Amino acid sequence: MPDRRRASAVPAPPGASIPRSLDARAVLGRAMLDSEFLRDPYPTYRALRDAAPLAWSDEFFGGAWLVSRHADVELVLRDARFSAQRTGGWVMHPADEAHTNRRKARSELSGFQRLFARAMIFLDAPDHTRVRQVMSAAFRPSDLQRLAPRIEMAVAERLAAIDSHSPFDFVSALARPLPAQVIGMLMGLDEAEGDAPADVVAWSDELAQFVGAPAPNRLQALSAQTALLAMARHFDGLLARRRAAQAGGAEPRDDVIDRLLQAERAGQIRGSAELLAQCVMLLFAGHETTRHLLANGLRTLLSHPEQWRQLQRDRTLLPGAVRELLRYDSPVQYTGRRVATDLVLHGQTLRRGELVVALIGAANRDPTRHERPDALDITRRTAPPLAFGQGPHVCIGAALTLMEAQSVFAQVLERWPDLALSPTAVPHWTGNALYRGLNELSVQCSGLSANTQTATPTLPVPLSVISPDAACKH
Ligand code: HEM
Repeated sequence: MPDRRRASAVPAPPGASIPRSLDARAVLGRAMLDSEFLRDPYPTYRALRDAAPLAWSDEFFGGAWLVSRHADVELVLRDARFSAQRTGGWVMHPADEAHTNRRKARSELSGFQRLFARAMIFLDAPDHTRVRQVMSAAFRPSDLQRLAPRIEMAVAERLAAIDSHSPFDFVSALARPLPAQVIGMLMGLDEAEGDAPADVVAWSDELAQFVGAPAPNRLQALSAQTALLAMARHFDGLLARRRAAQAGGAEPRDDVIDRLLQAERAGQIRGSAELLAQCVMLLFAGHETTRHLLANGLRTLLSHPEQWRQLQRDRTLLPGAVRELLRYDSPVQYTGRRVATDLVLHGQTLRRGELVVALIGAANRDPTRHERPDALDITRRTAPPLAFGQGPHVCIGAALTLMEAQSVFAQVLERWPDLALSPTAVPHWTGNALYRGLNELSVQCSGLSANTQTATPTLPVPLSVISPDAACKH
């Protein structure tokens, strides 16, 4: 690894030409990933964005380039010179493992790497294109249409079970359990048949600890491996039951699991490891993220009561409001890529193999892209945020997420128009730099206006307008 710190400098004085790359510590005058950052990363992002288009940081994975401006984040996500294949060093070189122990780490974490590296999110074309084609079939608007009433009902049941006359934790009551339940529906996990793993939330949390650690240690890698392999074992059993049913003449079901099995038979999915990898990735990818959208989003809305009331008056604002919540406080704050071939960016040579961290959370507050970026404005008309990524890996679950979030916020607005943050509660952030979210969100209503009828509200937009790409088009 070249000594990137030769490029470090203090920020340029006003009027001086802007340096092309800097050391993040020099820009900030402190470590980047401190507790202040975890509480509120946006001032840090602003400083990085203003200082230079590229910054080198030794806090991410032993050293990585950071891009924080919208145009650069977009470029890194779209351009094939930045590869999505990045799990090797990440999984098998824990930050606290001495060089001499590398061989041991490689062998004890090889199961993790074998599975993780096959997930679509870490593949490049042509493998990525092949797997994505199979997976996209599960997210067609017609599939989502079919799910809509079940999601509505699941939300209604969870809300109905809450006693809103005293303060309650929105995370444990809804934001945490609902996304796992919805992904279970999508995948066709039948609770009655024991398909839906009871430990999914715990496994997912373990994995999130690892994925969200900028420099994961051996213990985090081992715990994540245990969780990932437990998920894989669960799916292995389920897939075996489904294969046996199909061999016995059962009609294939119209769900993700049976579609993956059909694709495996047709050679579009290659081998059971590739198949298992997609199952565990789906379960994980849609779970942590949606939870944070729901809880961060509700907190943000309740912290802006005038906009909460505006939504009350005009529910047609809801789709735009959800997009604005995703921009304002993105549940996924960054993603990574590996430089596939030496290239020059902003006059700086990036070497093959170096890591680039695309700071999505920073791009979503870039003033060259969004006017008054630090203000929440649910009527904003600018382009959709980068919260779901962009380019070949743009989130496949975006439309499902929008549908789910709209259903939750519509029903909460309907049921508890006077909902408010509990006055004594302080936000309790998870401390995860990647998945920005809350462990707990205490809310309450006065009770006077709480509508405790079992509401069966309708979605504020016809589902036909929600296409899988609806959130991501530019
Ligand atoms: C608030 C909710 C969500 C957010 C903010 C989010 C964010 C993202 C982002 C930023 C990416 C791109 C990562 C990259 O380029 O490296 C991505 C990809 C992905 N997301 Fe989501 N996601 C959400 C919900 C979901 C849901 C509900 C599912 C599935 C049920 C899902 C499944 C996936 C998958 C499979 C990919 C990989 C796509 C590919 O590699 O082609 N996500 N997501």
